[in-house]
Amino acid sequence: MASRSPLITVMTRAAIKASRGLKRDFGEVENLQVSRKGPADFVSTADLKADKTLREELGNARPEYGFLTEEGAEVKGTDEHGRRWIVDPLDGTTNFLHGLPHFAVSIALEERGELVAAVVYDPIKDEMFTAEKGAGAFLNDRRIRVSGRSALNSALIGTGAPFLGHGDRPIFLKEVDAITASTAGIRRMGSAALDLAYVAAGRFDGFWERELSPWDIAAGVLLVRESGGQVTTIKGTAFKLDGDSILAANLELHPSLVKALRAARDS
Ligand code: IPD
Ligand code: CA
Ligand code: CA
Ligand code: CA
Repeated sequence: MASRSPLITVMTRAAIKASRGLKRDFGEVENLQVSRKGPADFVSTADLKADKTLREELGNARPEYGFLTEEGAEVKGTDEHGRRWIVDPLDGTTNFLHGLPHFAVSIALEERGELVAAVVYDPIKDEMFTAEKGAGAFLNDRRIRVSGRSALNSALIGTGAPFLGHGDRPIFLKEVDAITASTAGIRRMGSAALDLAYVAAGRFDGFWERELSPWDIAAGVLLVRESGGQVTTIKGTAFKLDGDSILAANLELHPSLVKALRAARDS
Protein backbone atom coordinates (compact mmCIF):
# COMPACT_ATOMS: atom_id res chain seq x y z
CA MET A 1 0.00 0.00 0.00
CA ALA A 2 1.36 3.41 -0.94
CA SER A 3 1.10 6.31 1.48
CA ARG A 4 -0.48 9.52 0.21
CA SER A 5 1.62 12.65 -0.31
CA PRO A 6 0.48 15.91 1.39
CA LEU A 7 -0.86 17.15 -1.96
CA ILE A 8 -2.87 13.98 -2.68
CA THR A 9 -4.14 14.06 0.92
CA VAL A 10 -5.51 17.59 0.39
CA MET A 11 -7.20 16.45 -2.83
CA THR A 12 -8.67 13.19 -1.48
CA ARG A 13 -9.99 14.94 1.65
CA ALA A 14 -11.73 17.55 -0.48
CA ALA A 15 -13.23 14.82 -2.71
CA ILE A 16 -14.50 12.88 0.30
CA LYS A 17 -16.03 15.99 1.86
CA ALA A 18 -17.85 16.94 -1.36
CA SER A 19 -19.00 13.33 -1.75
CA ARG A 20 -20.76 13.33 1.61
CA GLY A 21 -23.31 15.81 0.24
CA LEU A 22 -23.60 13.88 -3.01
CA LYS A 23 -24.30 10.64 -1.15
CA ARG A 24 -26.96 12.38 0.97
CA ASP A 25 -28.67 13.78 -2.14
CA PHE A 26 -28.33 10.61 -4.24
CA GLY A 27 -31.78 9.05 -4.73
CA GLU A 28 -33.51 12.22 -3.45
CA VAL A 29 -34.00 13.85 -6.82
CA GLU A 30 -37.42 15.19 -5.81
CA ASN A 31 -35.67 17.42 -3.26
CA LEU A 32 -33.20 18.87 -5.76
CA GLN A 33 -33.61 21.77 -8.14
CA VAL A 34 -32.56 20.71 -11.61
CA SER A 35 -32.01 22.86 -14.68
CA ARG A 36 -30.74 22.26 -18.19
CA LYS A 37 -27.56 23.97 -19.47
CA GLY A 38 -27.67 22.31 -22.90
CA PRO A 39 -29.57 19.63 -24.84
CA ALA A 40 -28.14 16.84 -22.67
CA ASP A 41 -26.41 18.77 -19.90
CA PHE A 42 -28.20 19.03 -16.56
CA VAL A 43 -27.13 20.78 -13.39
CA SER A 44 -28.67 20.30 -9.96
CA THR A 45 -28.29 21.83 -6.53
CA ALA A 46 -26.15 18.75 -5.69
CA ASP A 47 -23.61 19.72 -8.40
CA LEU A 48 -23.52 23.30 -7.10
CA LYS A 49 -23.08 22.28 -3.44
CA ALA A 50 -20.22 19.93 -4.34
CA ASP A 51 -18.57 22.67 -6.43
CA LYS A 52 -18.76 25.07 -3.46
CA THR A 53 -17.34 22.51 -0.99
CA LEU A 54 -14.41 21.73 -3.31
CA ARG A 55 -13.61 25.42 -3.82
CA GLU A 56 -13.65 25.97 -0.06
CA GLU A 57 -11.55 22.92 0.81
CA LEU A 58 -8.97 23.28 -1.96
CA GLY A 59 -8.94 27.08 -1.64
CA ASN A 60 -8.27 26.90 2.12
CA ALA A 61 -5.44 24.41 1.62
CA ARG A 62 -3.79 26.25 -1.29
CA PRO A 63 -5.10 29.86 -1.32
CA GLU A 64 -2.82 30.99 -4.16
CA TYR A 65 -3.94 28.41 -6.76
CA GLY A 66 -6.46 29.26 -9.51
CA PHE A 67 -9.65 27.36 -10.33
CA LEU A 68 -11.36 26.03 -13.42
CA THR A 69 -14.53 24.21 -12.35
CA GLU A 70 -17.60 23.14 -14.28
CA GLU A 71 -20.15 24.96 -12.17
CA GLY A 72 -18.33 28.10 -11.00
CA ALA A 73 -16.55 31.15 -12.35
CA GLU A 74 -12.93 30.72 -13.43
CA VAL A 75 -10.49 32.14 -10.87
CA LYS A 76 -6.99 33.29 -11.81
CA GLY A 77 -4.58 32.37 -9.06
CA THR A 78 -1.55 34.26 -7.79
CA ASP A 79 0.71 31.21 -7.64
CA GLU A 80 4.14 31.85 -9.16
CA HIS A 81 4.17 28.33 -10.70
CA GLY A 82 0.86 28.94 -12.47
CA ARG A 83 -0.92 26.17 -10.56
CA ARG A 84 -4.67 25.74 -10.85
CA TRP A 85 -7.30 23.19 -9.91
CA ILE A 86 -9.43 21.71 -12.70
CA VAL A 87 -12.55 20.34 -11.06
CA ASP A 88 -15.69 18.48 -12.05
CA PRO A 89 -17.71 18.38 -8.81
CA LEU A 90 -20.06 15.71 -10.17
CA ASP A 91 -19.15 13.83 -13.33
CA GLY A 92 -22.14 11.76 -14.36
CA THR A 93 -24.94 14.15 -13.39
CA THR A 94 -27.47 12.34 -15.62
CA ASN A 95 -26.70 9.01 -13.90
CA PHE A 96 -26.94 10.74 -10.51
CA LEU A 97 -30.33 12.25 -11.27
CA HIS A 98 -31.68 8.89 -12.43
CA GLY A 99 -30.47 7.01 -9.35
CA LEU A 100 -27.77 5.19 -11.32
CA PRO A 101 -24.87 4.59 -8.91
CA HIS A 102 -22.07 5.58 -11.31
CA PHE A 103 -20.66 9.08 -10.90
CA ALA A 104 -17.53 10.72 -9.51
CA VAL A 105 -15.79 13.79 -8.18
CA SER A 106 -12.83 14.71 -10.38
CA ILE A 107 -9.95 16.97 -9.30
CA ALA A 108 -6.78 17.67 -11.27
CA LEU A 109 -3.91 19.99 -10.53
CA GLU A 110 -2.22 21.73 -13.42
CA GLU A 111 1.15 23.49 -13.16
CA ARG A 112 2.15 25.80 -16.03
CA GLY A 113 -0.24 23.96 -18.33
CA GLU A 114 0.95 20.48 -17.34
CA LEU A 115 -1.15 17.95 -15.40
CA VAL A 116 0.70 17.05 -12.19
CA ALA A 117 -1.83 15.46 -9.81
CA ALA A 118 -5.20 13.73 -10.12
CA VAL A 119 -8.00 12.37 -7.97
CA VAL A 120 -11.17 10.68 -9.24
CA TYR A 121 -13.46 9.45 -6.46
CA ASP A 122 -16.48 7.19 -6.89
CA PRO A 123 -18.27 7.56 -3.54
CA ILE A 124 -20.78 4.74 -4.12
CA LYS A 125 -18.13 2.08 -4.72
CA ASP A 126 -15.69 3.90 -2.41
CA GLU A 127 -13.03 3.81 -5.11
CA MET A 128 -10.35 6.51 -4.87
CA PHE A 129 -8.16 6.77 -7.98
CA THR A 130 -5.05 8.93 -7.49
CA ALA A 131 -1.96 9.86 -9.50
CA GLU A 132 0.98 12.23 -9.36
CA LYS A 133 3.20 12.97 -12.32
CA GLY A 134 6.14 10.56 -12.30
CA ALA A 135 4.87 8.61 -9.29
CA GLY A 136 2.35 6.19 -10.80
CA ALA A 137 -1.40 5.71 -10.46
CA PHE A 138 -3.29 4.05 -7.62
CA LEU A 139 -6.72 2.71 -6.71
CA ASN A 140 -7.33 2.87 -2.96
CA ASP A 141 -3.55 3.19 -2.54
CA ARG A 142 -2.70 0.10 -4.58
CA ARG A 143 -0.75 0.51 -7.81
CA ILE A 144 -2.80 0.19 -11.00
CA ARG A 145 -1.73 -0.38 -14.59
CA VAL A 146 -3.47 -0.34 -17.95
CA SER A 147 -4.49 -3.74 -19.30
CA GLY A 148 -2.03 -5.92 -21.16
CA ARG A 149 -4.59 -6.95 -23.76
CA SER A 150 -3.26 -6.62 -27.29
CA ALA A 151 -5.93 -8.29 -29.46
CA LEU A 152 -8.60 -5.85 -30.60
CA ASN A 153 -11.17 -8.64 -30.78
CA SER A 154 -10.93 -9.25 -27.03
CA ALA A 155 -10.87 -5.57 -25.99
CA LEU A 156 -13.62 -3.79 -24.02
CA ILE A 157 -13.92 -0.13 -25.04
CA GLY A 158 -15.66 2.77 -23.30
CA THR A 159 -17.15 5.72 -25.13
CA GLY A 160 -19.60 8.61 -24.91
CA ALA A 161 -22.05 9.86 -27.52
CA PRO A 162 -22.36 13.36 -28.96
CA PHE A 163 -25.90 14.62 -28.34
CA LEU A 164 -28.64 14.47 -30.95
CA GLY A 165 -28.11 17.17 -33.57
CA HIS A 166 -24.34 17.40 -32.99
CA GLY A 167 -22.43 17.57 -36.29
CA ASP A 168 -20.15 14.63 -35.41
CA ARG A 169 -22.98 12.27 -34.54
CA PRO A 170 -23.20 10.45 -37.92
CA ILE A 171 -19.42 9.83 -37.83
CA PHE A 172 -19.65 8.63 -34.25
CA LEU A 173 -22.39 6.16 -35.16
CA LYS A 174 -20.15 4.72 -37.90
CA GLU A 175 -17.34 4.39 -35.35
CA VAL A 176 -19.66 2.61 -32.89
CA ASP A 177 -20.71 0.17 -35.59
CA ALA A 178 -17.09 -0.62 -36.52
CA ILE A 179 -15.76 -0.85 -32.95
CA THR A 180 -18.70 -3.02 -31.87
CA ALA A 181 -17.94 -5.39 -34.75
CA SER A 182 -14.18 -5.59 -34.13
CA THR A 183 -13.94 -5.74 -30.30
CA ALA A 184 -15.45 -7.68 -27.39
CA GLY A 185 -17.85 -4.79 -26.82
CA ILE A 186 -18.56 -1.16 -26.06
CA ARG A 187 -19.78 0.43 -22.83
CA ARG A 188 -21.40 3.89 -22.49
CA MET A 189 -21.25 4.36 -18.73
CA GLY A 190 -21.96 8.12 -18.48
CA SER A 191 -18.92 9.43 -16.60
CA ALA A 192 -15.87 10.33 -18.67
CA ALA A 193 -13.74 10.71 -15.54
CA LEU A 194 -14.52 7.12 -14.51
CA ASP A 195 -14.15 5.87 -18.10
CA LEU A 196 -10.54 7.10 -18.04
CA ALA A 197 -9.97 5.79 -14.50
CA TYR A 198 -11.18 2.39 -15.76
CA VAL A 199 -8.67 2.49 -18.62
CA ALA A 200 -5.99 3.27 -16.02
CA ALA A 201 -7.12 0.32 -13.88
CA GLY A 202 -7.20 -2.08 -16.85
CA ARG A 203 -10.99 -2.55 -16.68
CA PHE A 204 -11.43 -0.89 -20.05
CA ASP A 205 -8.80 -1.47 -22.74
CA GLY A 206 -9.58 1.83 -24.42
CA PHE A 207 -11.89 4.86 -24.46
CA TRP A 208 -12.81 7.49 -27.03
CA GLU A 209 -15.13 10.49 -26.97
CA ARG A 210 -15.60 13.94 -28.56
CA GLU A 211 -16.45 17.37 -27.24
CA LEU A 212 -15.50 16.84 -23.61
CA SER A 213 -14.46 19.74 -21.40
CA PRO A 214 -11.17 20.01 -19.49
CA TRP A 215 -12.89 19.24 -16.15
CA ASP A 216 -14.33 15.94 -17.51
CA ILE A 217 -10.93 14.51 -18.41
CA ALA A 218 -8.02 16.39 -16.75
CA ALA A 219 -7.68 13.99 -13.81
CA GLY A 220 -8.45 10.90 -15.93
CA VAL A 221 -5.76 11.78 -18.49
CA LEU A 222 -3.04 11.83 -15.82
CA LEU A 223 -4.38 8.55 -14.36
CA VAL A 224 -4.03 6.87 -17.77
CA ARG A 225 -0.55 8.29 -18.40
CA GLU A 226 0.68 7.29 -14.95
CA SER A 227 -0.66 3.76 -15.35
CA GLY A 228 1.31 3.25 -18.56
CA GLY A 229 -1.35 4.16 -21.13
CA GLN A 230 -1.37 6.55 -24.07
CA VAL A 231 -3.65 9.56 -24.56
CA THR A 232 -4.07 11.27 -27.96
CA THR A 233 -6.85 12.70 -30.10
CA ILE A 234 -9.10 10.24 -31.96
CA LYS A 235 -6.82 10.73 -34.99
CA GLY A 236 -3.76 9.75 -32.99
CA THR A 237 -2.32 13.30 -32.87
CA ALA A 238 -1.09 15.15 -29.76
CA PHE A 239 -3.73 15.47 -27.05
CA LYS A 240 -4.82 18.90 -25.85
CA LEU A 241 -7.01 19.44 -22.80
CA ASP A 242 -9.11 21.99 -24.65
CA GLY A 243 -9.10 20.01 -27.92
CA ASP A 244 -12.14 18.34 -29.43
CA SER A 245 -11.49 14.62 -28.94
CA ILE A 246 -9.72 12.03 -26.82
CA LEU A 247 -8.55 8.46 -27.34
CA ALA A 248 -6.94 6.61 -24.44
CA ALA A 249 -5.71 3.02 -24.48
CA ASN A 250 -2.88 0.72 -23.53
CA LEU A 251 0.20 1.09 -25.75
CA GLU A 252 -0.40 -2.11 -27.69
CA LEU A 253 -4.02 -1.42 -28.59
CA HIS A 254 -3.72 2.31 -29.22
CA PRO A 255 -2.49 2.06 -32.84
CA SER A 256 -5.14 -0.57 -33.70
CA LEU A 257 -7.85 1.71 -32.31
CA VAL A 258 -6.58 4.75 -34.26
CA LYS A 259 -6.66 2.58 -37.40
CA ALA A 260 -10.09 1.08 -36.75
CA LEU A 261 -11.63 4.50 -35.97
CA ARG A 262 -10.05 6.03 -39.09
CA ALA A 263 -11.32 3.18 -41.29
CA ALA A 264 -14.81 3.65 -39.82
CA ARG A 265 -14.81 7.38 -40.60
CA ASP A 266 -13.56 6.76 -44.15
CA SER A 267 -16.13 4.03 -44.83
C1 IPD B 1 -20.64 14.28 -18.71
C2 IPD B 1 -20.09 12.89 -18.55
C3 IPD B 1 -20.45 12.03 -19.74
C4 IPD B 1 -20.00 12.65 -21.04
C5 IPD B 1 -20.58 14.06 -21.16
C6 IPD B 1 -20.13 14.91 -19.97
P1 IPD B 1 -21.31 15.76 -16.54
O1 IPD B 1 -20.24 15.12 -17.63
O2 IPD B 1 -18.70 12.90 -18.40
O3 IPD B 1 -19.88 10.74 -19.65
O4 IPD B 1 -20.43 11.86 -22.10
O5 IPD B 1 -20.18 14.64 -22.35
O6 IPD B 1 -20.65 16.21 -20.11
O7 IPD B 1 -22.09 16.78 -17.27
O8 IPD B 1 -22.11 14.63 -16.01
O9 IPD B 1 -20.37 16.36 -15.55
CA1 CA C 1 -22.43 18.90 -16.91
CA1 CA D 1 -18.34 16.07 -16.53
CA1 CA E 1 -20.24 17.77 -13.90
